[in-house]
Amino acid sequence: MQILKQPLLSIVNDHLVDYPTPINIHYAWSFGFLASMCLIIQILTGIFLAMHYTTHVDLAFASVEHIMRDVNFGWLLRYLHANGASMFFIVVYMHVFRGLYFGSYAAPRHWVWALGVLILLLMILTAFIGYVLPWGQMSLWGATVITNLVSAVPLVGDSIVTWLWGGFSVDNATLNRFFSLHYLLPFIIAAASLVHIAILHQDGSGNPLGIDSTVDKISFHPYFIVKDFLGLTLFIIFFAMFAYFNPNILGHSDNYIEANPMVTPAHIVPEWYFLPFYAILRSIPHKLGGVIAMVLAIVVLALLPWIHSTEIRSSRFRPIYRVFYWTIISCCLILGWIGGMPVEDPYILIGQVASIFYFVYFLGILPLLGKVEKFLLSIK
Ligand code: HEM
Repeated sequence: MQILKQPLLSIVNDHLVDYPTPINIHYAWSFGFLASMCLIIQILTGIFLAMHYTTHVDLAFASVEHIMRDVNFGWLLRYLHANGASMFFIVVYMHVFRGLYFGSYAAPRHWVWALGVLILLLMILTAFIGYVLPWGQMSLWGATVITNLVSAVPLVGDSIVTWLWGGFSVDNATLNRFFSLHYLLPFIIAAASLVHIAILHQDGSGNPLGIDSTVDKISFHPYFIVKDFLGLTLFIIFFAMFAYFNPNILGHSDNYIEANPMVTPAHIVPEWYFLPFYAILRSIPHKLGGVIAMVLAIVVLALLPWIHSTEIRSSRFRPIYRVFYWTIISCCLILGWIGGMPVEDPYILIGQVASIFYFVYFLGILPLLGKVEKFLLSIK
């Protein structure tokens, strides 16, 4: 079409219309598109929420109730935004697990993956500071526990915590800076996501077979546009089940109690999407060690393209890897379960075994597995 030759529209054309797409990619490749949709939903609902929200410790909690009760469709905006964060994490975790299964992280898409891990870190930060804004009990105490972890840094830890808080406890200054950053970060994530897609489109998308296919490609429109929109429809139904029918199931009831620095909740639990990392943090009986392990649990993902030790990408052709893939998925689920449990036996032990397995998998099993597979092939 002539109109698509215009400079700006040609970008749309190159990436969404005529983009050469491997013919065999399936629905697991829709999660990137769904992640983009989630980001747009979060930004739009967030902008409208910010019009009615008040960033002050005396008013924040009441302003959220005002949004829920007085603002036209305020309840919908809030439920879409709060549940939208969970949906975003579900979609991005599926996107990452797709990458692990099909070896999407391997060269030439290694920088797409590494940037993806950075995006995941930014998402975690954004969700964490966003949860502080309603100024409920979990907001205050979650923020206090997690920011306090920085005090484990030798010598300067306490000073950094005071600097992060803007005072000597999580208070008004903290709430203000968290709001400011919570507004800013999604735009940085959006920019990073555009770069993520631009780098991907230089070499082109991978495919379930993990082979380089330069011949079997068709244009993105209409086939994959239609496919992604079917995925979007199913996703909207799934999302609506939470937002309309059970909007508080993924949250914690304590966050409907206004923050009170004088009363500590019985259990301080983060949102479900942080639980595996929280389990790793608590599995190490040393504060600094726990913090380092938790950060490494994400950083190790970024190193995957360099840990990968075989030319074969997709697990379709790696039967032994396939078994291990399901063990690491189970391990993440177990860590998620342990993260929500009290710190007592037998949960401590299960958490420690799962944490050790997590690192052994990425740093021991994966590098060895490629070599074992090559050896088995050579003696066949
Ligand atoms: C805001 C978050 C993210 C957005 C909006 C996003 C968006 C996308 C889109 C639209 C694609 C192309 C379609 C597809 O392959 O699904 C893609 C591909 C990809 N993404 Fe992401 N992504 C995000 C986060 C991540 C994360 C956290 C990782 C990994 C840690 C990651 C790794 C990849 C990889 C390796 C590909 C290439 C897959 C292939 O072609 O085989 N992405 N992403």
